[in-house]
Amino acid sequence: MLLAQISDMHVVAKGKRLHDRIDTPAFLARAVAHLNALAPRPDFVMATGDLVDEGSPAEYENLRAILSALQIPWALMPGNHDDCAALRQAFDDQLYLPGAGEFLQYTIEDYPLRLIALDTLIPGESGGRLCQARLDWLADRLEEHPDRPTVVAMHHPPFLTGLTEMDAINCGNSAALGAIVAQHPRIERIVCGHVHRPMVVGWNGTVVTTAPATAHQVTLDLKEGSPTSWIMEPPACHLHYWREESGLVTHVSYIGDYGPPTPY
Ligand SMILES: [Fe+2]
Ligand SMILES: [Fe+2]
Repeated sequence: MLLAQISDMHVVAKGKRLHDRIDTPAFLARAVAHLNALAPRPDFVMATGDLVDEGSPAEYENLRAILSALQIPWALMPGNHDDCAALRQAFDDQLYLPGAGEFLQYTIEDYPLRLIALDTLIPGESGGRLCQARLDWLADRLEEHPDRPTVVAMHHPPFLTGLTEMDAINCGNSAALGAIVAQHPRIERIVCGHVHRPMVVGWNGTVVTTAPATAHQVTLDLKEGSPTSWIMEPPACHLHYWREESGLVTHVSYIGDYGPPTPY
């Protein structure tokens, strides 16, 4: 199975630019074309939050229009820039999204890798958290199929990255999550967004990765106390390549024209 992950698209309304500079809808359109052109084509695309920038209906309308060109099954989950009510309304035909209830979390059961999407949002805040209700939901889902290889997707990473200001808005109560994760060796990976950079860490018996963004990246600045800034490093997505015999291998797939492959 080839699972593609796009993240932090921050799509704005038609005709607008993010921070008056970044044409995030055009970047997402390029990501969609990139995914459609991959050979082999991914089996599924997971979008790990900050789908749009301000959570407005006009932004979700634009997101929907751009994603309509994606020729691969896909699923959306919210980030701190999303508005769950507006997201639900714009995508009410997406059957995996719970139509009611406090949280936007779900499982996808149709593939060799089981996908569990976790809602880490605190409405109105940049940081995330998993309350007891969401932790219990996760534990119950994991108990359903403890032997199936599983990927957990969550917007806010549960670990400290070294990027000072991003670490202040990560997933707050990650120790409680870690205690659950440690009991489930078939969690092959936790895939996150939010930090707009690819990172990898061993964590509670599994591996956590964060995905690069489809448009702007967060500057790699490990000086303590540095403020967060963005930078136009190459947009990219993650390709998680699953085979039972080799496990889950994560590739960074850069979006853009870098010239043709040249034989050695
Ligand atoms: Fe983001
Ligand atoms: Fe975020």
